[in-house]
Amino acid sequence: MASRVASPSFLGLAISIAIVSLVLRFSVKPPVQSNQRLWTKEELAMYNGTDDGSSILLGILGTVFDVTKGRTHYGPGGGYQHFAGRDASRAFVSGNFTGDGLTDSLHGLSSTEVKSVVDWRDFYFRSYIYVGRLAGRYYDSLGNPTKYLKGVEAKAARGAQLLEQQKIEEAKLPSCNSRWSQKDGGEVWCDEGYPRLVQRPLEIALTGKMSHRCACFKEEELEKPGLELYTGCDRLSNVCPV
Ligand code: HEM
Repeated sequence: MASRVASPSFLGLAISIAIVSLVLRFSVKPPVQSNQRLWTKEELAMYNGTDDGSSILLGILGTVFDVTKGRTHYGPGGGYQHFAGRDASRAFVSGNFTGDGLTDSLHGLSSTEVKSVVDWRDFYFRSYIYVGRLAGRYYDSLGNPTKYLKGVEAKAARGAQLLEQQKIEEAKLPSCNSRWSQKDGGEVWCDEGYPRLVQRPLEIALTGKMSHRCACFKEEELEKPGLELYTGCDRLSNVCPV
């Protein structure tokens, strides 16, 4: 009868295969390819660009992109390396790339700020590879959009509407020309009419803050309420220092 006992070389091979597959099982990163993948925060963090040769991923509003081709921006030493391996949606508008700034929460941002984060997500759809969703604030553990994401989309849509209205309102009043040089400083001027500072329409609704712009008015319009003459500028001068 042939012996059933495995030869020492076969045993050695089997043990080696088992060890290699165990090592692979626990050390190799999950593949990036499938665009239906639901990522966890911890998995995403493995693709933060510190590992040379490995893909770099970034999350924004819970959508995950492969940004490897932008390694100069997102890899170590790149100006935007802090976006790699995490969802730091808020930093796309705050520009705060440190500590608490690196959060996915958009709490307290205005509708136009929220819209600008949505615009960044569009930029990544256009420029990089979509590789799935991140389970957490914006997608639940089944990969479905959360109430928070729907709220963000609705707020961004309101922001877009307000910006559109603002553009229409501003188009009704011609803007001043402006120039600035180190030697002469700044000035504004009107080819027709006289420069006045006016409050930007809808700005408070948009950003919660007041903001002014320079617009040109005909002489008969100069007594309208809300028009502010530039300090140091004559009433009927069409050039004003700023
Ligand atoms: C809220 C602040 C800011 C954010 C969130 C931001 C974000 C970004 C991101 C994500 C990229 C990379 C885009 C890509 O993948 O191609 C980028 C590129 C760039 N940013 Fe910013 N940025 C900010 C402010 C600034 C400022 C203040 C400047 C200039 C003074 C600036 C100059 C640039 C330039 C020149 C590039 C292109 C670099 C290149 O293609 O080589 N950014 N920005």
